[in-house]
Formats: sequence, C-alpha cells, structure tokens
Amino acid sequence: MELMEQKIRAEGKVLPGGILKVGSFLNQQIDTEFLEKTGQEIARLFEGCGVTKVLTIESSGIAIAAAAGMAMHVPLVFAKKHKTSNVDGSTYSAVVHSYTHNTDYTVVVSSDYLLPEDRVLLVDDFLANGKALLGLIDLVNQAGATLIGAACAIEKGFQGGGDALREKGIRVESLAIVESMSDTGITFRR
Ligand code: G4P
Repeated sequence: MELMEQKIRAEGKVLPGGILKVGSFLNQQIDTEFLEKTGQEIARLFEGCGVTKVLTIESSGIAIAAAAGMAMHVPLVFAKKHKTSNVDGSTYSAVVHSYTHNTDYTVVVSSDYLLPEDRVLLVDDFLANGKALLGLIDLVNQAGATLIGAACAIEKGFQGGGDALREKGIRVESLAIVESMSDTGITFRR
C-alpha cells in the first residue's frame, strides 16, 4: 500500500535495535482517517474470502483490527495477554515468545468468541518474528475454526517472520514490508 510507505517515510523514526517508531499515526497517536483507509485496504485484499471474524492480540493491534473488522462488517476479537499460563478451562491459550521484549507471555481467548464455524483473519500492527501470529494460529486451531490468512500494517521483512509463515502456506498480506532500515533511510520490498 503506497500510502503506508509514504506515511512511514514521512513520520517513522528508526531507533537503535531495529525498532521502527510509528507513534504519531499507528501506535500511540492514531491517524483515524488513515486507519480507516488501512481497514478498507485489508477488506479489499480479503474480499470474497468469507471472513466471519478478525482476531488480534491486545493492545496495539486492536485499532487496525477494529478498522478491518468495520470495513468487513465482522466482529473483532482480541486475545488477552497473561503473565502466566494459569488460565481456566473455558478458554483457548498459547504461549508466545517476544523477541522484542525477550519474554514469554500467554495469549488467551474465551471459547465463546472463537467458534468452529468461524473463518478467521488475523490482523496486527507489526509483524517481526511472527511469534504473535503463531500464537493466534494456535488459538484458531484449538477452536477448530478456519484460518483465512493474516494482514499486518508493517512487516519487518528482515526479521523473517512473514516469510516463514508464507512458507507454511499461510496467506500473509502486509501493507508495507520494510526490507532494511537505518538512520539514513528505509527500503521497502518491491
Ligand atoms: P513477533 O510477534 O513478530 O514475533 O514480534 P515481537 O514479539 O518481537 O514483537 C512484538 C511486540 O513488539 C508487539 O507489541 C509489536 O507490535 C512490537 N514491535 C515489534 N517490532 C516493532 C517495531 O519495530 N516498532 C514498533 N513500534 N513495535 C514493534 P507488544 O510489545 O507485544 O505489545 P503491544 O504494543 O501490542 O501491547
């Protein structure tokens, strides 16, 4: 999505450790008109796929997942993050390792909100190593639902998570894929 690349070039800040800061439009402050367009683009990409639910993880994935859900006229479900894996039986849960924070957390969703007949699109703001999406895929499988694919606002292609998922046969659509970045500039995958 050309608009996502323009926005990253104009407002993104490259921080040490391979972190791209997009707090001015996606993470902390949200450009709502821009967000609406990203939701519409995700809906366009997955048109005709019969998506019944959008699934993300709290917290910063919720905004873009809500925009996608609104554009597709389907509910958004967000998995909650727990510090322990000690959760009750009416839930599905999976352990996720965060490379960025070097920690493990458990993602949990109530079995009331993911049903076997659901056709689920995963949506997140960032795709880095792909572990968060793998955790969500685990939840979809536990529910016996159908995974349609994943849509991300920004994929950090150099961390390899998106390509590993594609190699597993999962459809992954990212609105911008950063191939490399440094304080002198950002290169996008073509
Ligand atoms: P992975 O899921 O792809 O394996 O990635 P990883 O665990 O390393 O990173 C996950 C967290 O870090 C997510 O948020 C993700 O949004 C964020 N993140 C990763 N790389 C970047 C980056 O370059 N820039 C920004 N702004 N965020 C990045 P989180 O910390 O789990 O929590 P939350 O913000 O969603 O609450």
